[in-house]
Amino acid sequence: MTEPRPEPQPELAPSPTAARSPARPIALGFTVSMAASIGLGVVYALGGQVQLEGLLLFFALGGIAVGFIVWGGKLLPQGPYVQERHPLSSGEEEQEEATEVFEEGAESLERRRLLIRLLTGAFVALGAALVFPVRSLGERPGGSLFRTAWRRGSRVVDEHDKPVRPDDLAVGSVVTVFPAGNTDAADSQTLLIRLGPGQYRPRRGREGWAVGDVVAFSKVCTHAGCPVGLYEPDTHQLFCPCHQSVFNVVDGCEPRSGPATRPLPQLPLTVDADGYLVARSDYTEPIGPGFWNRDR
Ligand code: FES
Repeated sequence: MTEPRPEPQPELAPSPTAARSPARPIALGFTVSMAASIGLGVVYALGGQVQLEGLLLFFALGGIAVGFIVWGGKLLPQGPYVQERHPLSSGEEEQEEATEVFEEGAESLERRRLLIRLLTGAFVALGAALVFPVRSLGERPGGSLFRTAWRRGSRVVDEHDKPVRPDDLAVGSVVTVFPAGNTDAADSQTLLIRLGPGQYRPRRGREGWAVGDVVAFSKVCTHAGCPVGLYEPDTHQLFCPCHQSVFNVVDGCEPRSGPATRPLPQLPLTVDADGYLVARSDYTEPIGPGFWNRDR
């Protein structure tokens, strides 16, 4: 007589109860991340401290990473699972087991909700903390990059705030000038140059911008903003000492060589009733690196 073969038991997925404890490190990771992100925002708002911000960013990202790793390793099904077919009728014991699994499933659902809320909170806090550094970009420049301290009627003065007349300059000489009362305005520094008689060849529309043979050009190099300080009267060329751009004064300071591609902006000049040099207006184009030649 042969012994009856034991009925094969269905292989069930591991009980979620066994995986309950890994939820704690996940929740801890997300909570640490949230706290670190909030701390990051606070430190930044209080003036910032680079080392501390780096540490907090480490915990903000690390907390999320730890949460994901533990979640993936411990809570997600690791499979593959094979379930043998068994008789469709279920006994009392199986029904109890199924009820138990359903109840545990409900618990698992609660846990998942909690973790998802914590994860969302961690991402929201991190996103908010990362928005703060946008403030570090500074204020919008507005139209300030298109303007200098020169105005219509601004008297031309030297570095000692002394007004300048056209005859104060000898032929071939150059002097750095500013608008009166603004001798510290770096973007307004201008080179006043006296050319020889008839040497100046104005660009079209700028015929009236010189006073006799005296012309004025921005001293700020259009390549990278260095002061263009070296003038060679024999060749009428201005040299920028930074990267050796060369500008030809008699041709409206067109660049002749070097990395600069834009002429030095010209300041329109005239004289006032007392015979002193004054500006007809501000520069009509951006000075310096010129916003990289963009139109307004
Ligand atoms: S800043 Fe003048 S050549 Fe570069």
